[in-house]
Amino acid sequence: MFTSDCLNVNEKGHLTIGGVDTLDLAARHGTPVMVMDEAQIRANCRAYTSSIAQYYGGHGMALYASKAFSCKEICRIAKEEGMGLDVVSAGELYTALQADFPPQHIYFHGNNKSLAELEMALDAGVGYIVIDNMQEIELLEGMGKPAQVLLRIKPGVEAHTHEFIRTGQIDSKFGFALETGEAIAAARAVVQTQHLSLVGIHCHIGSQIFDVAPFELAAQVLLGFMAKVKAELGVEMSQLNLGGGIGIKYLPDDAAPSYTVYFEHVAQVIEQQCAALGLTKPFLLLEPGRSIPGPAGITLYTVGNVKEISDVRTYVAVDGGMGDNPRYMMYGAKYTILNAAKAGEPATETYTIAGRYCESGDLLAEHALVQPLQPGDVLAVLSTGAYNYAMASNYNRVPKPPVVMMRDGESRVIVRGETIEDMARLDV
Ligand code: LLP
Repeated sequence: MFTSDCLNVNEKGHLTIGGVDTLDLAARHGTPVMVMDEAQIRANCRAYTSSIAQYYGGHGMALYASKAFSCKEICRIAKEEGMGLDVVSAGELYTALQADFPPQHIYFHGNNKSLAELEMALDAGVGYIVIDNMQEIELLEGMGKPAQVLLRIKPGVEAHTHEFIRTGQIDSKFGFALETGEAIAAARAVVQTQHLSLVGIHCHIGSQIFDVAPFELAAQVLLGFMAKVKAELGVEMSQLNLGGGIGIKYLPDDAAPSYTVYFEHVAQVIEQQCAALGLTKPFLLLEPGRSIPGPAGITLYTVGNVKEISDVRTYVAVDGGMGDNPRYMMYGAKYTILNAAKAGEPATETYTIAGRYCESGDLLAEHALVQPLQPGDVLAVLSTGAYNYAMASNYNRVPKPPVVMMRDGESRVIVRGETIEDMARLDV
């Protein structure tokens, strides 16, 4: 019925997270509120680190892709779980540094990094820069400081939730294409610099992927490129970064793969391919974003008005919406939605859940099956831990909600909610 192990129903029939009644959490912290379960986040981290240990002799590291949800507390958790970090902006880097994240385990990504961002990264001692384009090679070399770099490659494997295609895929704003010779030219350019050392290659084939095969194919393609660089430039790179992308359950029937199965397959392909190509097994990097906080988070709202338009639909309006979760609007993303007080009962009503923002498209779901709802009820939207808070906005000058973390039956605020005074704080 639920999408994550941290969720359950108590004797009152109420939804719980981390063993605590969500109605109590809504009363204590107000709504809207995002609630996350620390044990679930840690378990999700461990699924990656233990798979690397079990199937790849521990010769690798999972990097948390902090774009999924960046705040100091989750950086601290990722650090404690022995993960590295993927950041894509000065803001994500600043957050990580504020959380005392070890800079040598940070990978700096981005398709258009500024000089200021690169300077900040090198000054902070960031371990690796993932280079996206030729200008960046010049920019970085021009800074005159030593830097370890990876190249972002377009492997020509494009994956979506249920299917993948092998394309030229030259048409992407990210990275260097293989088939045009751009990638090998970039590798040559880096090798010829004075300050940069080429330690590895990276790819990211998509997000919310349910299939293992595209990852296997991407690994094969990248190892082929590593062999080419070795043959043509005499450089054997030591790091292979396969990016993120493992899908999670948004709906109870979603067939999200287990990380362990995924990893077992990918590790096998790498072993075989390295043997065939005469390469030393590279240090393996994975960059899970969504699958770390995604299943561990829920959002609680309060139902305001219920507007029944006969023969059309019933709108249920909540006190949040596109400002805290733009994913239905942007991608038509589907979520499991519950009346938190009736979580154990069958979902019998069909509702369109509307937000409180001035925009007709501000919906969280259309034609969703939910238990009966009336004004004042607490509504729970599941699996909102990734790319919700991270993509939140202040449209209509609505403050962002707080983020609360559960541990051992206790809740603590890890990101304070904004106030209306914050809405005018930067105004001059
Ligand atoms: N590494 C790189 C280079 C990435 O671009 C991404 C995500 C990740 C890792 C993490 O991927 P994940 O494991 O989360 O799939 N806003 C969209 C998702 C955008 C993903 C962007 N890149 C959404 O809400 O579905």
